[in-house]
Amino acid sequence: MTRPSLLIARRIFPAVAERLAVHFDVETNDADTLWSREELIQRLRGKQGVFVTTGEPIDAALVAACPELKAVCSMAVGYNNIDVAACHARGITVTNAPDVLTETTADFGFALMMAAARRIPESEHFLRSGAWTKWAPDFFVGADVHGATLGILGMGRIGQAIARRGHLGFGMNVLYHNRSRLAPEAEAPIGARWVDKATLLAEVDHLVIVVPYGPASHHLIAAADLAQMKPTATLTNIARGGVVDDAALAMALRSGQLGAAALDVFEGEPAVHPALLGVSNVVLTPHIASASLPTRLAMAQLAADNLIALLNGGEAKTPVPAPKPAAST
Ligand code: DGY
Repeated sequence: MTRPSLLIARRIFPAVAERLAVHFDVETNDADTLWSREELIQRLRGKQGVFVTTGEPIDAALVAACPELKAVCSMAVGYNNIDVAACHARGITVTNAPDVLTETTADFGFALMMAAARRIPESEHFLRSGAWTKWAPDFFVGADVHGATLGILGMGRIGQAIARRGHLGFGMNVLYHNRSRLAPEAEAPIGARWVDKATLLAEVDHLVIVVPYGPASHHLIAAADLAQMKPTATLTNIARGGVVDDAALAMALRSGQLGAAALDVFEGEPAVHPALLGVSNVVLTPHIASASLPTRLAMAQLAADNLIALLNGGEAKTPVPAPKPAAST
């Protein structure tokens, strides 16, 4: 019997690739080349499964060009690179990697927020540049985190994990905005209160953005939203590039309309808006919120679990549901 064939679109942990090779005929990308869309299609033709990460575009054209494809399994929780509707229409199962990265990503979001509020990278650069000649009372003064008001935009698993850190660890007052409200029994232990978006923006000292990216969340935070925030507030984006208008953010930071920001994700990454690079009160990291070794391994193993199950006729552990059809007007 011929074994299913699988494309692993990026270089992954050898232990995970070796595990997959026990089950499938595997084509790997050991050079970790960022294949063009056409090359990805060409390599995927005739294969039944693909292992993807955050960026490989699995779009309608690819789905149409790869009729033997049955499983698209991502090691990321976000799946805005995958046209889930096109996959479902063709009977392809899509999986993502929720849960295994929640706590690690929440740790990082909290760390970024603290780094921006307390100006840690900015002061470190100053020290390394040799500019430190004397201590001063107002030297790199920032904003307090303990006891401040934490705002969460998007209140899924990661948002709730950040809220828990803020409420239980730092005595923060937690506000959140999300399309759907949490049940009271989920809000109470993390001290979270639902507010509308305008209230959230106006009242928070530290805003952390954790919404999935899609047409509805494109530039959810744009110039007019930034203008509603306190001039001392911080904004942290660990969701996806494109949720925040990076050009507008750079202007707000430069003009003093916003206190500080921390970004792990960028519109058009790995490119970073040049205006952000010239602003000192923003912390910039290269999409590493889930990057602890145990967590990245767990994410990759979960994608492998899903591939092994699906291509052997079993059930995926973490399938992405078919998108709901848009409501008719
Ligand atoms: C995800 O899983 O969606 C992250 O952005 C990658 O860590």
